[in-house]
Amino acid sequence: MDHHVVALELEPLLVELSDLALSAKQAHWNVTGPLFRPLHAQLDELADDARTWCDDVAERLVAIGIPADGRVGTVQANTPFDTWPDGFLGDSKVVPLIVARLEELIDRTRQRAVRLAVNEIVSEAMLVEIAKGLERHRWMFRVQQG
Ligand SMILES: [Fe+2]
Repeated sequence: MDHHVVALELEPLLVELSDLALSAKQAHWNVTGPLFRPLHAQLDELADDARTWCDDVAERLVAIGIPADGRVGTVQANTPFDTWPDGFLGDSKVVPLIVARLEELIDRTRQRAVRLAVNEIVSEAMLVEIAKGLERHRWMFRVQQG
């Protein structure tokens, strides 16, 4: 196993999941509208899961001898996602925004898992579990679009 090749997959994922955790909390606080209550609760679950996955990814990096970098500046400089909108945000805007982010993150995570499967099955297995959790959240947000 080439640890640097693994780091090339796990470091960006740590950034993406850190952004997701922060965006989900931002949405949790500022969502408005008829779906406030279920979205408020569900966004908190997403934020909690994202933080847990950050920890999994960061500690996997360290376990293979690579320092984890979850600093705010690193996340801001490297995230592929647009800045989450400021201020209050209606539920009809929050749901498609979150679904789009989850779609992109699922796609990236699946691709990373496939690349890791070649020679790093432990990290691959972790990413499969993360993708599974992301897809569960995608389902629960997507069905609220009707
Ligand atoms: Fe809260």
